[in-house]
Amino acid sequence: MENFEIYNPVKAYFGLGVISNLPAEITRRGKRVLLVYGKGSIKDNGIYDAVMEQVESAGAEVFEFSGIKPNPIIEDVRAATALGKAKNVDLILAVGGGSVIDSAKVMAIAIPGEHDPWEYVKGNKKPVSGIPLLAVLTLAATGTEMNCVAVVQDNETNEKIGFRYPSMYPAVSFLDPSYTISVSADYTSFGIVDLITHALEAYFGKGDASLSDRFVFSIIREAIEYGPRLMEGLSDYDLRARIMYAASMALNNLCIYGRISGDWGVHSIGHVLSVLYDVPHGASLSIAYPAWLRLHEDKAGDRIIHLGRNLFGTHSVNDTINALEAFFRKIDSPVKLSETSYGLYDKETIIKTMTDNAVSGVHHKLSEDQYRELLELMW
Ligand code: NZQ
Ligand code: ZN
Repeated sequence: MENFEIYNPVKAYFGLGVISNLPAEITRRGKRVLLVYGKGSIKDNGIYDAVMEQVESAGAEVFEFSGIKPNPIIEDVRAATALGKAKNVDLILAVGGGSVIDSAKVMAIAIPGEHDPWEYVKGNKKPVSGIPLLAVLTLAATGTEMNCVAVVQDNETNEKIGFRYPSMYPAVSFLDPSYTISVSADYTSFGIVDLITHALEAYFGKGDASLSDRFVFSIIREAIEYGPRLMEGLSDYDLRARIMYAASMALNNLCIYGRISGDWGVHSIGHVLSVLYDVPHGASLSIAYPAWLRLHEDKAGDRIIHLGRNLFGTHSVNDTINALEAFFRKIDSPVKLSETSYGLYDKETIIKTMTDNAVSGVHHKLSEDQYRELLELMW
């Protein structure tokens, strides 16, 4: 087992009605709030009104930036950062899923910073400080509510980049499972896939950490048991709560302790599909993971069998991959690109973008020769 440090400063309120804690958390941190949200689901489902009621009772002045798109783009982050600077905001309130919260994380370091936000994403500039971020999560999937990672894309350069800074941890996250009840069936399913793959990326990383492996199995087993039930009953609060808790634990470092790092090769492949064709994040992963596992049959065979034994009661690489694929199908997430119609997929464009972006895992390196093989497996 490797040395490790446990540090997660996020204060997370979990449960029905936790938004009532918002005024106190605002008042102790700021007076001029940049409210960030997406394309408008929060107006349809009443979350906007519920949040605004609390913000008003805190007596804060609010400036709104809306329209953040799924697979968020740097242009929106730039525009919101300019608004935040012009209005001299001292606090950000993000209300949405991963796309909104990730965009807000970049704003939190770019508003007090001097550089273009993309410079921080690329790692060319380091943030000096960050303004506090309060996150109201409306979609269980990414784990962004409890980590310091943000993922943003630039459609001009075809790069979708995940990066981390300690100053991007939300100060406080509000996790009310009832806020996720209006999430559509497809995004509910993609969220379940996403949380499973976060645990898998940790599992296929580097380092021997048996307890972290057991956290991985427990989190995935929770998703395997309750995910399909949730797909049958999207408005069930208790099932929404189980999935929301699992998603937060899957990417808050719990599965990483004792390892050198996770692998993240599959996410790297998925990001190419998202930046080129706007494939939703979770869908890109249910397509890429089985293909990646098949490609690593020889190199990671023992780990795959160990995984299968603990998740599905399987005893071979092939049976394990088939079981995972069958689970993704069961919750209606695609496992082949050809099953989807997000765009007119072009093999050479995908290969070129993978090559330009040097798509690879940290531990399991992917070579350019393997891109074509992967693509055939995903097709
Ligand atoms: O635009 P709005 O109105 O917000 O609608 C969204 C969007 O259309 C909708 N939605 C969200 N909450 C809803 C709702 N619809 C109805 N009711 C609600 N309560 O769902 C759609 C998808 O939203 P999005 O935020 O894009 O989904 P998700 O939470 O899956 O976030 C995906 C993004 O997070 C990144 C992904 O790459 C992707 O860009 N990730 C972030 C990570 C992190 N920060 O740690 C790690 C992940 O691996 C991932 O890469
Ligand atoms: Zn993910």
